[in-house]
Amino acid sequence: MKVGNLVGLVGWRGMVGSVLMDRMQSEGDFALIEPVFFSTSNAGGAAPSWAKNETSLKDAFDIDALKKCDIIISAQGGDYTSEVFPKLRSGGWTGHWIDAASTLRMKDDAVIILDPVNLPVIQAALKNGGNNWIGGNCTVSCMLMGVGALYKAGLVEWMSTQTYQAASGGGAQHMRELLTQFGTLNAEVKALLDDPKSAILEIDRKIIAKQRALSATEMANFGVPLGGSLIPWIDKDLGLGKQSDEPGWGMSREEWKGMAETNKILGQGAAFGSAETPVDGFCVRVGAMRCHSQALTFKLKKNVPSADIEAMIAADNAWVKVVPNTREATIKDLTPVAVTGTLTIPVGRIRKLAMGPEYVGAFTVGDQLLWGAAEPLRRMLRILLQA
Ligand code: HSE
Repeated sequence: MKVGNLVGLVGWRGMVGSVLMDRMQSEGDFALIEPVFFSTSNAGGAAPSWAKNETSLKDAFDIDALKKCDIIISAQGGDYTSEVFPKLRSGGWTGHWIDAASTLRMKDDAVIILDPVNLPVIQAALKNGGNNWIGGNCTVSCMLMGVGALYKAGLVEWMSTQTYQAASGGGAQHMRELLTQFGTLNAEVKALLDDPKSAILEIDRKIIAKQRALSATEMANFGVPLGGSLIPWIDKDLGLGKQSDEPGWGMSREEWKGMAETNKILGQGAAFGSAETPVDGFCVRVGAMRCHSQALTFKLKKNVPSADIEAMIAADNAWVKVVPNTREATIKDLTPVAVTGTLTIPVGRIRKLAMGPEYVGAFTVGDQLLWGAAEPLRRMLRILLQA
Protein backbone atom coordinates (compact mmCIF):
# COMPACT_ATOMS: atom_id res chain seq x y z
CA MET A 1 0.00 0.00 0.00
CA LYS A 2 1.31 3.44 -0.91
CA VAL A 3 2.26 5.45 2.18
CA GLY A 4 1.36 9.15 2.20
CA ASN A 5 4.04 11.76 2.72
CA LEU A 6 2.64 13.97 5.49
CA VAL A 7 5.38 13.47 8.08
CA GLY A 8 5.12 14.71 11.68
CA LEU A 9 8.46 15.49 13.32
CA VAL A 10 8.71 15.51 17.11
CA GLY A 11 11.87 16.15 19.13
CA TRP A 12 13.68 17.58 16.11
CA ARG A 13 15.46 20.23 18.19
CA GLY A 14 17.23 17.97 20.71
CA MET A 15 20.62 16.37 20.15
CA VAL A 16 19.48 13.28 18.22
CA GLY A 17 16.76 15.32 16.50
CA SER A 18 19.25 17.95 15.33
CA VAL A 19 21.55 15.30 13.88
CA LEU A 20 18.50 13.79 12.19
CA MET A 21 17.44 17.14 10.66
CA ASP A 22 20.97 17.67 9.44
CA ARG A 23 21.10 14.26 7.77
CA MET A 24 17.62 14.66 6.27
CA GLN A 25 18.66 17.96 4.73
CA SER A 26 21.95 16.56 3.41
CA GLU A 27 20.17 13.64 1.79
CA GLY A 28 17.32 15.69 0.32
CA ASP A 29 14.64 13.88 2.32
CA PHE A 30 12.56 17.03 2.69
CA ALA A 31 12.03 17.14 -1.06
CA LEU A 32 10.01 13.95 -0.73
CA ILE A 33 7.80 14.82 2.23
CA GLU A 34 5.43 17.43 3.54
CA PRO A 35 6.85 17.99 7.03
CA VAL A 36 4.77 19.07 10.04
CA PHE A 37 6.91 20.25 12.93
CA PHE A 38 5.58 19.54 16.42
CA SER A 39 6.78 20.96 19.72
CA THR A 40 6.19 19.94 23.33
CA SER A 41 6.94 23.45 24.61
CA ASN A 42 6.51 26.04 21.88
CA ALA A 43 3.28 25.30 19.97
CA GLY A 44 2.40 28.25 17.73
CA GLY A 45 6.05 29.28 17.41
CA ALA A 46 7.83 29.42 14.09
CA ALA A 47 8.76 26.16 12.39
CA PRO A 48 12.38 25.92 11.20
CA SER A 49 13.38 27.60 7.97
CA TRP A 50 13.24 24.34 6.00
CA ALA A 51 9.51 23.88 6.71
CA LYS A 52 7.27 24.02 3.65
CA ASN A 53 3.51 24.67 3.92
CA GLU A 54 3.19 24.27 7.70
CA THR A 55 5.27 27.15 8.99
CA SER A 56 4.10 27.20 12.59
CA LEU A 57 4.78 24.59 15.26
CA LYS A 58 1.94 22.27 16.23
CA ASP A 59 1.33 21.03 19.77
CA ALA A 60 3.07 17.66 20.17
CA PHE A 61 0.33 16.56 22.60
CA ASP A 62 -2.51 17.37 20.20
CA ILE A 63 -3.57 13.83 19.29
CA ASP A 64 -5.92 14.96 16.52
CA ALA A 65 -3.14 16.96 14.83
CA LEU A 66 -0.76 14.02 15.13
CA LYS A 67 -3.38 11.64 13.73
CA LYS A 68 -3.45 13.56 10.46
CA CYS A 69 0.13 12.45 9.72
CA ASP A 70 0.89 9.43 7.56
CA ILE A 71 4.21 9.00 9.35
CA ILE A 72 5.46 10.36 12.67
CA ILE A 73 9.15 10.43 13.54
CA SER A 74 9.93 11.00 17.21
CA ALA A 75 13.30 11.74 18.75
CA GLN A 76 11.55 13.27 21.76
CA GLY A 77 12.38 10.48 24.22
CA GLY A 78 10.71 7.65 26.08
CA ASP A 79 8.40 9.68 28.32
CA TYR A 80 6.80 11.28 25.30
CA THR A 81 6.38 7.93 23.56
CA SER A 82 4.79 6.41 26.67
CA GLU A 83 2.32 9.25 26.91
CA VAL A 84 1.36 9.81 23.29
CA PHE A 85 1.76 6.55 21.38
CA PRO A 86 -0.96 4.56 23.21
CA LYS A 87 -3.42 7.43 22.71
CA LEU A 88 -2.72 7.52 18.98
CA ARG A 89 -3.18 3.80 18.51
CA SER A 90 -6.24 3.54 20.77
CA GLY A 91 -7.65 6.50 18.83
CA GLY A 92 -7.50 4.40 15.67
CA TRP A 93 -4.39 5.92 14.05
CA THR A 94 -2.82 3.39 11.69
CA GLY A 95 0.05 5.53 10.40
CA HIS A 96 3.73 4.66 10.71
CA TRP A 97 5.49 5.46 13.97
CA ILE A 98 9.29 5.80 13.71
CA ASP A 99 10.94 6.32 17.08
CA ALA A 100 14.44 6.67 18.52
CA ALA A 101 13.33 5.86 22.10
CA SER A 102 13.66 2.37 23.56
CA THR A 103 10.12 2.27 25.02
CA LEU A 104 8.52 0.12 22.31
CA ARG A 105 11.61 -1.69 21.06
CA MET A 106 10.97 -5.13 22.47
CA LYS A 107 7.20 -5.18 21.80
CA ASP A 108 6.13 -8.02 19.54
CA ASP A 109 4.57 -5.67 17.00
CA ALA A 110 7.67 -3.44 16.76
CA VAL A 111 10.66 -3.94 14.49
CA ILE A 112 14.11 -2.66 15.48
CA ILE A 113 15.23 -0.89 12.32
CA LEU A 114 18.75 -1.19 10.95
CA ASP A 115 18.13 -1.82 7.27
CA PRO A 116 21.69 -2.51 6.08
CA VAL A 117 21.56 -5.42 8.52
CA ASN A 118 17.90 -6.45 8.63
CA LEU A 119 16.07 -5.20 5.53
CA PRO A 120 14.42 -8.65 5.07
CA VAL A 121 13.01 -8.45 8.62
CA ILE A 122 11.69 -4.94 7.91
CA GLN A 123 10.18 -5.97 4.58
CA ALA A 124 8.49 -9.03 6.06
CA ALA A 125 6.93 -6.89 8.79
CA LEU A 126 5.82 -4.26 6.26
CA LYS A 127 4.10 -6.95 4.23
CA ASN A 128 2.27 -8.10 7.35
CA GLY A 129 0.98 -4.60 8.09
CA GLY A 130 3.68 -3.58 10.57
CA ASN A 131 3.71 0.10 11.44
CA ASN A 132 5.95 0.47 14.52
CA TRP A 133 9.61 1.06 13.59
CA ILE A 134 12.00 1.60 16.44
CA GLY A 135 15.67 2.57 16.33
CA GLY A 136 17.99 0.19 18.19
CA ASN A 137 20.31 0.72 21.10
CA CYS A 138 23.27 2.70 19.80
CA THR A 139 25.89 0.20 20.91
CA VAL A 140 24.09 -2.71 19.28
CA SER A 141 23.39 -0.85 16.02
CA CYS A 142 26.99 0.32 15.64
CA MET A 143 28.28 -3.19 16.43
CA LEU A 144 26.01 -4.87 13.87
CA MET A 145 26.87 -2.32 11.18
CA GLY A 146 30.46 -3.41 11.70
CA VAL A 147 30.33 -7.18 12.13
CA GLY A 148 26.81 -8.06 10.98
CA ALA A 149 28.37 -10.11 8.16
CA LEU A 150 29.49 -12.79 10.60
CA TYR A 151 25.96 -13.14 11.97
CA LYS A 152 24.38 -13.15 8.52
CA ALA A 153 26.74 -15.98 7.54
CA GLY A 154 25.58 -17.97 10.58
CA LEU A 155 29.14 -18.16 11.89
CA VAL A 156 28.71 -16.82 15.42
CA GLU A 157 28.38 -19.35 18.24
CA TRP A 158 28.60 -16.57 20.81
CA MET A 159 30.00 -13.08 21.18
CA SER A 160 31.32 -11.17 24.15
CA THR A 161 31.53 -7.39 23.98
CA GLN A 162 33.38 -4.96 26.20
CA THR A 163 32.25 -1.43 25.43
CA TYR A 164 33.81 2.00 25.75
CA GLN A 165 30.76 4.25 25.54
CA ALA A 166 30.81 7.98 24.99
CA ALA A 167 29.24 10.64 27.19
CA SER A 168 26.66 11.49 24.50
CA GLY A 169 24.88 8.18 25.18
CA GLY A 170 23.63 9.79 28.39
CA GLY A 171 22.53 12.98 26.63
CA ALA A 172 23.69 16.50 25.87
CA GLN A 173 24.07 17.48 29.53
CA HIS A 174 26.38 14.54 30.08
CA MET A 175 28.72 15.79 27.35
CA ARG A 176 28.82 19.22 28.94
CA GLU A 177 29.52 17.71 32.35
CA LEU A 178 32.45 15.69 31.02
CA LEU A 179 34.05 18.73 29.40
CA THR A 180 33.47 20.88 32.47
CA GLN A 181 35.19 18.25 34.58
CA PHE A 182 38.17 18.18 32.21
CA GLY A 183 38.39 21.96 32.50
CA THR A 184 38.16 21.89 36.28
CA LEU A 185 40.91 19.29 36.50
CA ASN A 186 43.14 21.18 34.10
CA ALA A 187 42.66 24.42 36.04
CA GLU A 188 43.61 22.65 39.25
CA VAL A 189 47.12 21.88 37.98
CA LYS A 190 47.61 24.49 35.28
CA ALA A 191 50.54 26.20 37.00
CA LEU A 192 52.28 22.89 37.60
CA LEU A 193 51.70 21.80 33.98
CA ASP A 194 53.18 25.04 32.72
CA ASP A 195 56.36 24.33 34.70
CA PRO A 196 58.23 21.50 32.92
CA LYS A 197 60.22 20.85 36.07
CA SER A 198 57.20 20.23 38.31
CA ALA A 199 56.78 16.74 39.80
CA ILE A 200 54.23 14.49 38.04
CA LEU A 201 53.27 12.82 41.30
CA GLU A 202 52.40 16.23 42.72
CA ILE A 203 50.13 16.82 39.71
CA ASP A 204 48.60 13.36 40.14
CA ARG A 205 47.97 13.96 43.86
CA LYS A 206 46.20 17.25 43.19
CA ILE A 207 44.09 15.71 40.42
CA ILE A 208 42.83 12.77 42.47
CA ALA A 209 42.11 15.10 45.38
CA LYS A 210 40.07 17.33 43.06
CA GLN A 211 38.23 14.41 41.45
CA ARG A 212 37.26 13.12 44.87
CA ALA A 213 36.17 16.59 45.95
CA LEU A 214 33.90 17.37 42.98
CA SER A 215 30.58 18.76 44.18
CA ALA A 216 27.23 17.09 43.56
CA THR A 217 26.51 19.80 40.98
CA GLU A 218 29.73 19.03 39.11
CA MET A 219 28.64 15.38 38.86
CA ALA A 220 24.90 15.91 38.57
CA ASN A 221 24.51 13.72 35.47
CA PHE A 222 26.94 10.84 35.94
CA GLY A 223 26.82 10.84 39.75
CA VAL A 224 30.59 10.27 39.99
CA PRO A 225 33.57 11.83 38.18
CA LEU A 226 34.02 10.71 34.56
CA GLY A 227 36.83 13.09 33.47
CA GLY A 228 40.06 11.15 34.03
CA SER A 229 38.11 8.05 35.14
CA LEU A 230 35.57 5.54 33.81
CA ILE A 231 32.26 4.09 34.99
CA PRO A 232 31.71 0.35 34.47
CA TRP A 233 27.92 0.51 34.73
CA ILE A 234 25.44 2.00 32.23
CA ASP A 235 21.69 2.37 32.81
CA LYS A 236 19.60 0.51 35.39
CA ASP A 237 20.37 -2.64 37.39
CA LEU A 238 18.27 -5.42 35.89
CA GLY A 239 19.74 -8.22 37.92
CA LEU A 240 18.03 -7.36 41.18
CA GLY A 241 15.94 -10.16 42.59
CA LYS A 242 17.86 -12.91 40.83
CA GLN A 243 20.11 -15.38 42.62
CA SER A 244 23.79 -14.55 42.37
CA ASP A 245 24.66 -17.52 40.16
CA GLU A 246 21.80 -17.10 37.68
CA PRO A 247 22.71 -15.55 34.31
CA GLY A 248 21.35 -12.04 34.40
CA TRP A 249 22.25 -11.42 38.01
CA GLY A 250 24.13 -8.15 38.40
CA MET A 251 23.49 -7.21 34.79
CA SER A 252 22.99 -3.64 33.65
CA ARG A 253 20.15 -2.78 31.30
CA GLU A 254 22.67 -1.74 28.65
CA GLU A 255 24.32 -5.16 28.89
CA TRP A 256 20.93 -6.90 28.66
CA LYS A 257 20.13 -4.99 25.46
CA GLY A 258 23.24 -6.45 23.82
CA MET A 259 21.75 -9.92 23.51
CA ALA A 260 18.06 -9.04 23.38
CA GLU A 261 18.36 -6.44 20.62
CA THR A 262 21.06 -8.16 18.58
CA ASN A 263 18.83 -11.20 18.22
CA LYS A 264 15.67 -9.23 17.58
CA ILE A 265 17.35 -7.13 14.88
CA LEU A 266 18.58 -10.28 13.18
CA GLY A 267 15.14 -11.90 13.36
CA GLN A 268 16.33 -14.65 15.69
CA GLY A 269 14.85 -16.05 18.89
CA ALA A 270 11.60 -17.52 20.16
CA ALA A 271 9.41 -14.98 18.33
CA PHE A 272 10.97 -16.13 15.05
CA GLY A 273 11.04 -19.84 15.92
CA SER A 274 14.82 -20.03 16.12
CA ALA A 275 17.60 -20.11 18.70
CA GLU A 276 19.21 -16.98 20.07
CA THR A 277 22.92 -16.28 19.80
CA PRO A 278 24.39 -15.60 23.25
CA VAL A 279 25.83 -12.08 23.56
CA ASP A 280 27.18 -10.83 26.88
CA GLY A 281 29.85 -8.61 28.35
CA PHE A 282 30.43 -5.36 30.18
CA CYS A 283 29.30 -1.88 29.20
CA VAL A 284 31.59 0.91 30.35
CA ARG A 285 31.27 4.69 30.13
CA VAL A 286 34.49 6.46 29.16
CA GLY A 287 35.44 10.08 28.53
CA ALA A 288 34.78 10.04 24.76
CA MET A 289 32.33 12.56 23.29
CA ARG A 290 29.97 10.79 20.84
CA CYS A 291 31.52 7.59 19.51
CA HIS A 292 30.94 4.24 21.14
CA SER A 293 33.78 1.72 20.81
CA GLN A 294 33.73 -2.00 21.54
CA ALA A 295 36.21 -4.83 21.86
CA LEU A 296 34.54 -8.00 20.58
CA THR A 297 35.40 -11.63 21.20
CA PHE A 298 33.76 -14.21 18.92
CA LYS A 299 33.55 -17.93 19.25
CA LEU A 300 32.88 -18.99 15.68
CA LYS A 301 31.17 -22.24 14.78
CA LYS A 302 34.18 -23.20 12.69
CA ASN A 303 37.70 -22.14 11.90
CA VAL A 304 37.54 -19.43 9.23
CA PRO A 305 40.78 -17.83 7.96
CA SER A 306 41.26 -14.24 9.15
CA ALA A 307 41.55 -13.03 5.54
CA ASP A 308 38.11 -14.50 4.77
CA ILE A 309 36.64 -12.89 7.88
CA GLU A 310 38.06 -9.52 6.82
CA ALA A 311 36.71 -9.92 3.30
CA MET A 312 33.22 -10.81 4.53
CA ILE A 313 33.11 -7.86 6.89
CA ALA A 314 34.41 -5.44 4.26
CA ALA A 315 31.82 -6.56 1.68
CA ASP A 316 28.82 -6.36 3.99
CA ASN A 317 27.70 -2.77 3.47
CA ALA A 318 28.82 0.57 2.09
CA TRP A 319 29.85 2.05 5.44
CA VAL A 320 31.96 -0.62 7.12
CA LYS A 321 35.71 -0.29 6.62
CA VAL A 322 38.25 -2.91 7.64
CA VAL A 323 41.26 -1.31 9.29
CA PRO A 324 44.46 -3.34 8.85
CA ASN A 325 45.66 -4.74 12.16
CA THR A 326 48.76 -2.58 12.34
CA ARG A 327 49.65 -0.07 15.00
CA GLU A 328 49.81 2.78 12.51
CA ALA A 329 46.43 2.15 10.88
CA THR A 330 44.76 1.42 14.22
CA ILE A 331 45.75 4.61 15.99
CA LYS A 332 44.93 6.67 12.91
CA ASP A 333 41.57 5.17 11.87
CA LEU A 334 40.09 3.20 14.76
CA THR A 335 39.32 5.89 17.31
CA PRO A 336 36.37 8.07 18.31
CA VAL A 337 38.27 11.14 17.08
CA ALA A 338 38.69 9.60 13.62
CA VAL A 339 35.05 8.50 13.33
CA THR A 340 33.04 11.34 14.91
CA GLY A 341 30.64 13.01 12.51
CA THR A 342 31.02 10.30 9.85
CA LEU A 343 28.91 7.30 8.89
CA THR A 344 32.01 5.13 8.56
CA ILE A 345 32.10 2.09 10.80
CA PRO A 346 35.71 0.94 11.07
CA VAL A 347 36.40 -2.63 12.22
CA GLY A 348 39.98 -3.43 13.09
CA ARG A 349 42.23 -5.47 15.39
CA ILE A 350 40.82 -8.55 13.64
CA ARG A 351 42.93 -11.48 14.78
CA LYS A 352 42.78 -15.03 16.03
CA LEU A 353 42.98 -15.27 19.82
CA ALA A 354 45.11 -17.54 21.99
CA MET A 355 42.12 -19.68 23.02
CA GLY A 356 41.98 -21.47 19.65
CA PRO A 357 41.36 -21.01 15.91
CA GLU A 358 37.60 -20.44 16.31
CA TYR A 359 38.21 -17.52 18.67
CA VAL A 360 38.42 -14.18 16.90
CA GLY A 361 38.92 -10.69 18.31
CA ALA A 362 37.89 -7.41 16.71
CA PHE A 363 37.47 -3.76 17.67
CA THR A 364 34.92 -1.37 16.23
CA VAL A 365 33.89 2.27 16.60
CA GLY A 366 30.70 4.08 15.59
CA ASP A 367 29.20 7.55 15.93
CA GLN A 368 26.33 6.85 18.28
CA LEU A 369 24.33 9.85 17.11
CA LEU A 370 24.50 8.76 13.45
CA TRP A 371 24.24 4.97 12.97
CA GLY A 372 23.47 4.70 16.67
CA ALA A 373 20.41 6.96 16.54
CA ALA A 374 19.45 9.26 13.65
CA GLU A 375 20.45 7.43 10.48
CA PRO A 376 18.26 4.31 10.80
CA LEU A 377 15.22 6.58 11.35
CA ARG A 378 15.62 8.58 8.16
CA ARG A 379 16.40 5.43 6.18
CA MET A 380 13.16 3.87 7.46
CA LEU A 381 11.33 6.96 6.24
CA ARG A 382 12.83 6.37 2.78
CA ILE A 383 11.80 2.71 2.86
CA LEU A 384 8.21 3.68 3.68
CA LEU A 385 8.08 6.35 0.97
CA GLN A 386 9.24 3.77 -1.56
CA ALA A 387 6.88 1.04 -0.33
N1 HSE B 1 22.10 3.72 26.26
C1 HSE B 1 23.15 4.24 25.45
C2 HSE B 1 24.21 4.86 26.28
C3 HSE B 1 22.66 5.26 24.47
O1 HSE B 1 23.92 5.21 27.43
O2 HSE B 1 25.32 5.02 25.81
C4 HSE B 1 21.37 5.01 23.79
O3 HSE B 1 21.26 3.85 23.02
